[in-house]
Order: sequence, then C-alpha cells, then structure tokens
Amino acid sequence: MFSPNPNSASSRRSDAFVESHGAHIPLVGLGTSPLRGRDCVEIVQQAARVGYRHFDTAESYENEIEVGEGLRASGVRRDELFVTTKISASHFAPRELERATKDSLTRLRLSEVDLLLLHWPNSGVPISETLAGLCAVKRTGLTRHIGVSNFTVADIQEAVRYSSEPLVCNQIEMNPFLDRSEVTAACRTHGMAVVAYSPIGRGRANNDALLARIGRGYGKTGVQVSLRWLVQQGVPVIPRTSRSTRLLENCTIFDFELSEAEMSEISSAARRRARVANRLAPLRAFAHKTLPVPAISVLRACLRKVRQFNS
Ligand SMILES: NC(=O)c1ccc[n+]([C@@H]2O[C@H](COP(=O)([O-])OP(=O)(O)OC[C@H]3O[C@@H](n4cnc5c(N)ncnc54)[C@H](OP(=O)(O)O)[C@@H]3O)[C@@H](O)[C@H]2O)c1
Repeated sequence: MFSPNPNSASSRRSDAFVESHGAHIPLVGLGTSPLRGRDCVEIVQQAARVGYRHFDTAESYENEIEVGEGLRASGVRRDELFVTTKISASHFAPRELERATKDSLTRLRLSEVDLLLLHWPNSGVPISETLAGLCAVKRTGLTRHIGVSNFTVADIQEAVRYSSEPLVCNQIEMNPFLDRSEVTAACRTHGMAVVAYSPIGRGRANNDALLARIGRGYGKTGVQVSLRWLVQQGVPVIPRTSRSTRLLENCTIFDFELSEAEMSEISSAARRRARVANRLAPLRAFAHKTLPVPAISVLRACLRKVRQFNS
C-alpha cells in the first residue's frame, strides 16, 4: 500500500521516501532528459555526491550509458541508489519488452533497475499482453518494481486489472500549473504512488509571483516552494537541471513546511490555471488513442504553450 512519509524520515535531503507496495521511492530524484554526453555524466555524478539517491532515465532519452557512468563515477554504493528507467511504447509486445529491458540494463551496466515503467500507454498492443510481459520481466529479476507513466484514470483501471504484480507508481506531469486531482485520486485508490515529472513546470516556477511570495516568508525560491508543495503531498519529484549550482537548491526542501492555507492557495491556483487545458482534454484523449508517440509529444508541447498563454 502507498504510505506518504514526507516528513518523518528526516529533514535532510536524500533519505526521505514514500513507500508503495514495498518500494521505497526517494522523494527527491534527478530527472535526466534531455541531458546527454559528458554534461549528463558529470551532473549525475555531482548529484549523487551531494546526496541525490533517485535517478530517472528512459530508453528514449538515449542517455542510459551516461547515467550509468555518472553513478559509477560517484562512488555511491549501488544498494543506496534508486534507478528508474522506462520502456518506450513501441516495445510493449511481450518479447520486445524483455529485450528492451535487457538492452537498457546493458547500457546502464546494471543487473537490475529499481523501477521499470511503461513510458506511455499504447493502444496498439493489448494492455493484458503488455502487463503480462511487464510482470514476467519483474519475475525474471530484471527490475525490483514495476509501474506506469502518463496513464489516465481509465488506463490505470485497466492496468491494475491485468497486472499480477503490484504497480507501484504512475509517473505523470504534476506541478502548481496543472490540476491532477482525478488521476492522483485514482492512483491512491489502487495504492500507487504518484511521481511528478516536470515538477517545476520546466522552470516556470522560478518566475511565478504566487510561489515567489510564499517562498519569501521562508527564505526559499519559487522552485523550492513548487517542489515542497509536491513532496508535502507525498509525491516524489524528479526536477532536472544541467547546472551543478542548482542541484542543492532543488533538494533543500525539507527544512520548511508550507501551512495548510498555503498548500490550498497553490492547489486552487493550479485548478484555475487548468480550466482552459481541461477543455482540451477530449482532444488529448483522442490523440493518445490514435496518434504515434512522437506526434503526441508535439501536441503536448502545443498544449503547454496554450496553458502558459492563458494563465
Ligand atoms: N515520464 C515522462 O513522460 C516524462 C516526461 C517529461 C519529463 N520526464 C522526466 O522528468 C524530468 C524533469 O522534467 P522536465 O525536465 O520536463 O522539467 P522540470 O524539471 O520541471 O524543469 C527543468 C527546467 O527547469 C530549469 N531549472 C531547474 N532547476 C532550476 C532552478 N533551481 N531554478 C530555475 N530553473 C531551474 C532547468 O534549466 P537548467 O538545466 O538550466 O537548470 C530546465 O530548463 C525529466 O528530466 C525526465 O527525467 C518524464
């Protein structure tokens, strides 16, 4: 079962986690897309050295080799790390899934990952077959835990129905500029954690007046308030930065606590900002059912622009 534990583990940066079906997911991780090459190796290494223990990659990021190299160079023991990778939707046929997972492990130079996710729903392969394949991969020991990403409420219900192993999380876009209450509630119903990607709205939290005002009261930045708002709800965050100077800022979020009024104010703003985006939800659902994954990425970028324009 999912158990939020945002405050109890420690006020320090690296060892707070949420528990879901036996998985201890560190509350702060490093997102690595679209980092590549030496920059990626170095930021991963520095992040591990300053205390990050959770690292997020995917086969489609084409940086698993660099993420693995950065982790090895850090000298941090493997059993202290929580490494997530994601299988691309084009590899969901059961045999493909196992092959793609083995390829990811070869690139990472690991014998298993901590969490393996289905990157996007893919209606082109029956969900029952994909989940059977994912569970088989877990049983062969290639991953300690499994989960999904970008799954809607309906997708989650289907996935849970066909999964013989616990699904520990749904990794979704979540930040103070979006209302994700419905999908979050569906995850909680099934004991799944929510992991927030784009948790600072791709940097937008840095310039947001509400977050900056709240942050001033604690000597914190808007980015830190955005991340704190998420972890205080028991939602692990995986902000990405290419700058070592920002690594500490993005994980120093356990030495202050937002009041209930501040949490509600940020949530209300998220609901207001989401209204326009929600009107576009039927279009988004249709696109997920009919378009290939690259086309969905382009559409998502357009929708993000619409949201920014309307907020
Ligand atoms: N499952 C999925 O489908 C999916 C989709 C998207 C992302 N993700 C994962 O989630 C991770 C994070 O999401 P994201 O990269 O989209 O967005 P994000 O983490 O919300 O924002 C990253 C942006 O914020 C800037 N930034 C970072 N720290 C900052 C700070 N302290 N002050 C000001 N600006 C700051 C970064 O610039 P600098 O580099 O210059 O610092 C970068 O431009 C990705 O790297 C990836 O691992 C998953």
